[in-house]
Amino acid sequence: MPQDIYDKVMMLAKRRGFIYPSFEIYGGCAGFYDYGPLGSRLKQNLENLWRSFYLLKDNCVEISTPTITLFEVLKASGHVDEFTDLTVDCKKCKQSYKVEGIIGEGISVEKAIKNNKVKCPTCKTILKNPYNVNLMFSTKIGIGQSRDAFLRPETAQGIFTDFHLLYRHAREKLPFGVVQIGKGYRNEVSPRQGIIRLREFSMAEAEIFFDPNDKTHPNFKDVKDEVLFLFDNEKEMEITLEKAVQTGVINNQALAYYMYLTQEFLMTAGINPEKFRFRKHSDDELAHYAVECWDAELFSERFGWIECVGIADRSAYDLISHMESTGTDMYALRKYDEPKIVDVKKIVPDMGKLGPLFKDKAGKIKTLLENMDVKDNEKIFVDIDGKTVEVPSNCYKIVETKEKQIGEKFVPHVIEPSYGIDRILYCILEQNYAEVKKKDEEYRLLKLKPEIAPIKVGVFPLVSDERLVKIAKIVDKNLRNAGIATYYDEGGTIGRRYARMDEIGTPFCVTIDHDTLKDKSVTIRDRDTTKQDREKIEDIIRHIKNKISC
Ligand code: ATP
Ligand code: GLY
Repeated sequence: MPQDIYDKVMMLAKRRGFIYPSFEIYGGCAGFYDYGPLGSRLKQNLENLWRSFYLLKDNCVEISTPTITLFEVLKASGHVDEFTDLTVDCKKCKQSYKVEGIIGEGISVEKAIKNNKVKCPTCKTILKNPYNVNLMFSTKIGIGQSRDAFLRPETAQGIFTDFHLLYRHAREKLPFGVVQIGKGYRNEVSPRQGIIRLREFSMAEAEIFFDPNDKTHPNFKDVKDEVLFLFDNEKEMEITLEKAVQTGVINNQALAYYMYLTQEFLMTAGINPEKFRFRKHSDDELAHYAVECWDAELFSERFGWIECVGIADRSAYDLISHMESTGTDMYALRKYDEPKIVDVKKIVPDMGKLGPLFKDKAGKIKTLLENMDVKDNEKIFVDIDGKTVEVPSNCYKIVETKEKQIGEKFVPHVIEPSYGIDRILYCILEQNYAEVKKKDEEYRLLKLKPEIAPIKVGVFPLVSDERLVKIAKIVDKNLRNAGIATYYDEGGTIGRRYARMDEIGTPFCVTIDHDTLKDKSVTIRDRDTTKQDREKIEDIIRHIKNKISC
């Protein structure tokens, strides 16, 4: 079978130390890949570029929370009940498939099942009896009296469960954003697409908390005239951020702003603007927590349009869920200009009654009651662990009092850009892979942007003359000491050495030749133009730093 671009990219990736199939000596395991020496650097550079967008441009803070997550957290977040994929089995081929993955674009899952359009991709048998499987890997914490847990399916929940602490850290001002980069785990039904569909993958997620009455973004004014590339499931359009929000194509400024930031990040990382679009989720596609979602999709010649980033408005869904489940106060305060003295009715819980009746839930119920609006003569219900229960009237008193209020309480809304690092990395490799013929030989290049290239500079003595080698080694060391990743190579012809660097995406090569001995200058070759500049040794670092803005 002729190789397509995926095969070529993955072969190069394996040969040159970017990506290896995991556990290969044991036969491998679908859905798991290793990053080799160059792949790890490329991934780190991509993550650090992402950090520069979210931590510097957008001023978010970063946290790190466990990848093993308590059952209760993911029960409250809805993942235990809702994080499922509709699956079908082909008895003939002894394979299972995610229905969504085999019905083709533009048809809904319901319609496909009703019209017998779900067919085995291998033997074409019509597949019936779809069933839901939960995608989380479960585990236990502790031996004996253990606690149920899961490997996290998203990093986001670690941020939500710390919200009350992070809000204080942000000095109780909205909006503020918190990011996390780390592993997510999903027991995918049919991971047959390399690093596009992994069972353990890297996510970079940002949760930005907003006042629901004010989903404006402080930086919006600076970018309102920039253009977004949108696809509304029917037609593609280019539209400014301002117009998209004014006409309701995108619901609010915050969502539009994070779409723009995503577009900028992807372009800076080396995505081809013609192989990029935002696609809006139709209502039946939305995740259980989302009210609006746009996917940044990248085009792959093998896989078609791939979702690589999901930018969702999760509203107050998660904070309310955790508040109801634990009783923790996850409110923010909308401050008044002047404090107000107001008549209020308050519920004063009676722990003497709540305790015996509700046992370990009593504390949570107390907090919920204390934060509840009181309406006259109405029965009081609380939602606890997914159940609504009535609180008997002898468990509390209602008292009328005057209170000085400095603001109004509300649960913040969340805008979440969620990036799949591995998918983006694959698309960067595929979209920047090029083949040319040189002297009738296949010549491969990765045109990686200098910002993310794993090696920035190849350093070569032109020939193995001891005097040149000595200088080349000093140049190499000085570059590395200045924070610039290099690869020193004195083996083979100079053409072969350039080729090795072109193939791994190294943007610049410095060659030390006999003229260096006379005038202390070297050549700096640019991968994309193959142009060679002559620079003084003392200027190399400045010259390279100017070109790689990192
Ligand atoms: P898909 O529909 O392709 O399964 P998803 O809608 O489940 O993706 P999200 O839940 O929105 O994906 O996850 C956020 C991001 O994480 C995605 O945009 C994607 O880049 C990445 N991602 C999700 N699942 C995987 C996976 N199995 N392997 C690699 N990356 C993934
Ligand atoms: N945090 C977004 C997702 O997992 O879909």
